[in-house]
Amino acid sequence: SPPVSPRITVIGTGYLGATHAICMAVLGFEVLGVDVDETKIRRLGEGEVPFFEPGLPPLLAKATDSGRLRFTTSFEEAAEFGDIHFICVGTPQRQGSDAADLRYVDSAVSALAPHLRRPALVVGKSTVPVGTATRLTELVRSLAPAGDQVELAWNPEFLREGYAVDDTIRPDRLVFGVASARAEERLRAAFAPVIASGTPVVVTDLTTAELVKVAANSFLATKISYINAMAEICEATGGDVHSLASALAYDDRIGGRFLKPGLGFGGGCLPKDIRAFVHRAEELGVGRAVTFLREVDAINKRRRSRTVDLIRELAGGDLTGVRVAALGAAFKPHSDDIRDAPALDVARALHRSGAHVTVVDPEATDNARRAHPELRYATDAISAATGADVVALLTEWPQFQEIDPHLMGSVVTHRRMVDARDALDATAWREAGWTCRALGRP
Ligand code: UGA
Repeated sequence: SPPVSPRITVIGTGYLGATHAICMAVLGFEVLGVDVDETKIRRLGEGEVPFFEPGLPPLLAKATDSGRLRFTTSFEEAAEFGDIHFICVGTPQRQGSDAADLRYVDSAVSALAPHLRRPALVVGKSTVPVGTATRLTELVRSLAPAGDQVELAWNPEFLREGYAVDDTIRPDRLVFGVASARAEERLRAAFAPVIASGTPVVVTDLTTAELVKVAANSFLATKISYINAMAEICEATGGDVHSLASALAYDDRIGGRFLKPGLGFGGGCLPKDIRAFVHRAEELGVGRAVTFLREVDAINKRRRSRTVDLIRELAGGDLTGVRVAALGAAFKPHSDDIRDAPALDVARALHRSGAHVTVVDPEATDNARRAHPELRYATDAISAATGADVVALLTEWPQFQEIDPHLMGSVVTHRRMVDARDALDATAWREAGWTCRALGRP
């Protein structure tokens, strides 16, 4: 029978894995974090979280001090140590394709399995194309010396960046995709403290568990693009999408969460997940079931070009030589993640059209500068706006919402604001002499 408190390894210590490893140790488990990236492992071992996530650094310190959390680059050590191995590596979009790139998942499993000499459960957490878990079951079985004493399960992760700790310790639900009662029992042991605090558990098969994750992200993306499609209609008719959204939100069948119109969704998950889902459905001959997700993607991208157009209009029709202050680079506030960031996409498009763009972001500047050295960067919003012809709010950081429109008005060349996230009090800005434009508003 499985040990009462299983020893846990977390393979892949990026965003998802580091958070999972730290939280599991804080919940009382013995945890070993594993990664092929020696620098990452060294930094984590020295108590440094290699990315920005509110609340995580003190938990890493707490977990390390407890002696329950260690890090290694050795898969052999991981296999000897762990009863349960969580696979938390990334599944980015493949270069030049909509498909997910599974090389990291495959190599993590292939590096671990040959060392598995005793009963263990390998649990996939990464977002993968449906069918991957079944394929990996075969792979693990063929490589592991312990043979069918090693099982595979799927436990999709739903955490949001910026709320990762809370989403891990108090998730909305746990989904266990399992092929046996023994695997379910082991997963229940690994999540005992989370289950004890009342988290519902959905136990299902491997395939459904994989699908839950992409179905959830597709639904969320659809919700955002739905309201942004209504924004397009409002722009053509003189309606106000923000009033429209608040009126819809009173119907709890619709609900107001994730119904915020604006520059749209980005990040390392939603955009690539919907594309990979369409790609996989087409491979399976059921592409028609999800063609609407192509529209969801297209609506989302059109918000970015609409924002560029609004800035161009406000600048008088031509962006050549126009100085734009871009407030925001991260794909959303409380994150330093710039993967598929709408804000940076807009900044780059402005730059390509001949504008001089200065970007400011409370956390994502270093990442943005590394990826896009052609843009200029400022350390605070007032310096970014100094001499600007147009200011564009692209990521709704609370710091930007607190900007004094009079103070910023005194440093710009022209008081023109495009609020692409509906984050500012337009009345206050207009009273301070600004011309303000927003998405989905007359
Ligand atoms: C998303 C999901 O929300 C998580 O449940 C999931 O676990 C995660 O992807 C993942 O697959 O790993 P995340 O990418 O951290 O989480 O970010 P979200 O908070 O979902 O925001 C996504 C994007 O949608 C952001 O660019 C945000 O600005 C935008 N958004 C969000 C809107 O434009 N409107 C809204 O109403 C909500």
